[in-house]
Amino acid sequence: MADLIIWTDKYSVGCNYIDQQHKKLIDIINELHSAFMGRESKDKLGEILSELVDYTKYHFSAEEEMLKKHGFGPSDLHKKQHQEFVEKIEIFKKRHELGDEILGFDMLNFLKDWLLNHILKTDMSYSKPVCSKVD
Ligand SMILES: [Fe+2]
Ligand SMILES: [Fe+2]
Repeated sequence: MADLIIWTDKYSVGCNYIDQQHKKLIDIINELHSAFMGRESKDKLGEILSELVDYTKYHFSAEEEMLKKHGFGPSDLHKKQHQEFVEKIEIFKKRHELGDEILGFDMLNFLKDWLLNHILKTDMSYSKPVCSKVD
């Protein structure tokens, strides 16, 4: 089955380890998509959702730390976007645990659009000032 999201260079912010983390987030969303399409069990889908929540939190704090370290924010807007996304996926996870049928194309497309937009519009703003100075 085709992946929901395909990484291309235009998503590269230029900090290698951040790119690796963004790729990992894409992998998890693709995994959720293929598990959904393959009608995997509720538990299996729940496991992937948990992984998405955990890894997203890990990535956001790593990214915010890096920006702090380089004296480039993170801006309130950037932090707010991170926070709201975490709240949103935590609610998805809880509703899934409660048995709501929340997993579907709307949710998968929301995840895809949010992540790619965030990388292109918000994360990309630190590409030049920060990533040109690190690895
Ligand atoms: Fe970000
Ligand atoms: Fe990011």
